[in-house]
Formats: sequence, C-alpha cells, structure tokens
Amino acid sequence: DASDIEKGTYPFYMLKEIDEQPLVTRKIIQAYQDINGELTIDSDITKAVSEADRLYIIACGTSYHSGLVGKQLLEHIAKVPVEVHVASEFVYNMPLLSKNPLFIFISQSGETADSRAVLVKVKELGYKTLTVTNVAGSTLSREADYTLLLHAGPEIAVASTKAYTAQIAVLAILADVTAKVNGIERNFDLVHELGIVANAMEVLCDSKEEFEKMASEYLSDTRNCFFIGRALDYYVCLEGALKLKEISYIQAEGFAGGELKHGTIALIEEGTPVVALATQNDVNWNIRGNAKEVLARGANVCTISMKGLETEEDRFVIPEVNELLTPLISVVPLQLLAYYAALHRGCDVDKPRNLAKSVTVE
Ligand code: G6P
Repeated sequence: DASDIEKGTYPFYMLKEIDEQPLVTRKIIQAYQDINGELTIDSDITKAVSEADRLYIIACGTSYHSGLVGKQLLEHIAKVPVEVHVASEFVYNMPLLSKNPLFIFISQSGETADSRAVLVKVKELGYKTLTVTNVAGSTLSREADYTLLLHAGPEIAVASTKAYTAQIAVLAILADVTAKVNGIERNFDLVHELGIVANAMEVLCDSKEEFEKMASEYLSDTRNCFFIGRALDYYVCLEGALKLKEISYIQAEGFAGGELKHGTIALIEEGTPVVALATQNDVNWNIRGNAKEVLARGANVCTISMKGLETEEDRFVIPEVNELLTPLISVVPLQLLAYYAALHRGCDVDKPRNLAKSVTVE
C-alpha cells in the first residue's frame, strides 16, 4: 500500500512509525485471530515448537532485543526452554545444541546476512527453521521451513521501532497458542491484554510533549547516558540504549540494575543521566535501590515506572499492562526520548551515519 510509505505530515519516518504502534498491535491481533476471535497459528508451526526440546532464537540488533523478551514469553507462557543468540556470534561459535532444536530467526527485513549464515548452516545440519519477519517473500522467509509475519507495514527509518513491538506481540501470540495446543493453562486472555497494550501505547504516543521535555532536560548536552532495569526491564534498557546511540550518537548503555555495582557505577559522575525502568513488581524494590545508588553518586536519575508500582520521585508513569507485556509499552518512552534527543542535536533521525536499514553483508 503506497500510502503506508508516505511520511505525510511527519518530519521523519521514525516518528510516524512510533505512532503506528497501537494500530500495528491491533492489526496483529486481527491477523492472528480465527473466525471465532481465538488466536491461531498454523498447526505445523505450533507442532514444530511443541516437538522441540529447545528453541534457539537467532537475530541481530533490535531484533535480538525483541528475541530476549520473546524468550521470557515463550518460557513463561509455553514452558519451552529458549536460548537467544546474536547471529554473527552463533555462526562461528555454536553452543552445544540440544537433541531436537527448533531455530527461530527474527528479522524485520528478512535479509540480514549474519542471520542467513546461521540459517544456511543449521539447515545443512538438518534442523527445522522458523522465520519471524515483516517481509513476506524475503530471503529468510523463503529459505526457512515456516514463516510468521509481523504485519507492521513497511518500516523505513533505520532505527527500528514498530518492528520491535510487532516482533514481541507475534512471539507472545506464538507462546500463547503453543501453550493452548499443549494444554498449558494461561491465566490471562492475550487478545484482551494486547488490546490494553494498544490503548496504553496510544496514551504514550499522545504524551510526546512530555518526552520532548524529558529529552531536553536529561539529554541535551550529555556525552553519555545509562539505562538500568531488572528482569524484562533490563532487555528494554538494552533496546533504549541502542535507539539512543543509533540516532543521537550519545554513548548509551543498558545495564542490569544489580550488575551496576560490579563495575559500571565507576562511570557515574555528577549529572550523568541514568534512565531507570521500574515496571516489574518482583524487582521493584531492587531497582529502586539501584536508582538510589547512582543518585548518591550524583547521577541525574529519570525513573519511568508503571501504574501501581510508582513512587513520588518518578519522572513518568506508564499505564498498567500485563506484567509480561510491559516491554511493548515501556519501550515507547525510550524510542521518543531517543527521537527528541536526536532531533534537538540536529541529527538526521531517519538516516543515521554509518548505519544501513538492512545489512546484507556478513
Ligand atoms: C540493521 C539495522 C537495525 C536492525 C538490524 C537487524 O543493523 O540498522 O535496526 O535491528 O539490522 O535487522 P533485521 O532486518 O534482521 O531485523
């Protein structure tokens, strides 16, 4: 659809694609519903997932980060063990594989050479493969045994946004349907929960002014920025840091909150921005302790928490969604922070230096 690839009134594709996330989430729900409104996935795929003794998720960049979240979803909901690997490492440094693995390639473009190299190798070894991609007919889709589509529409900005959330939503659906097929009880209705997520995304997309303010407050003249989180929030921190470095060129790193004291805390100086995510009930107390540790060393702490877990000092509180699905919405403020930081620095948001939308060389 040609209209999908017009920028319209948006100054940059990235902002348009961030804004499309509620719609894409709703499209994904529809695309994976049967006529009775039940989530469904090709039975060959759920059979392959059920028969595997371990899933190996292979990806690069942002898709690797969605794979980390996907691991938690598949393990929690479908009870299948999952490993997540960066493609360029896996291909030359393969771990000892389980007896009956299934390989899942996550790739927005379906063209990433590093991921394809793994696909070629594991196919030679005779293993089954599934590609999760935005592009039907892409190389990784054609060459894998099975494909799940993201239905995110064309993503033009180099920095991936809507593909990340689409990948997580599709992996959640894969986990949910696999659980159903295997008679594993789920304590939530995923269609309903993803609907809540889409609404929450909308609330965040409507809060752009706030994130623009936060970007100028914390990121306007800094050389670096840290993102800290625990459990699922940690994975979102990795993605938030990647977004910021890709487009604003601010040196940014995501860290597990508890790991700070083992080295990274040495980097905290007076005024160093630290974005802390606090959306996970089980570790809410712990991450707040970590935020205090960096605050005490002079950090400029910006805590983004979730409704129900908030405290007075939080800078922003995201709406409440199912705890397993928080990455789908906690990433939105981080995407917008990166966007405005880059914008304020006069960077070419859609075409950052040295980067390509899809990397077709190893
Ligand atoms: C490039 C892009 C990233 C992307 C990565 C993986 O490096 O700049 O935004 O995450 O490739 O791309 P894929 O299409 O395989 O998801």
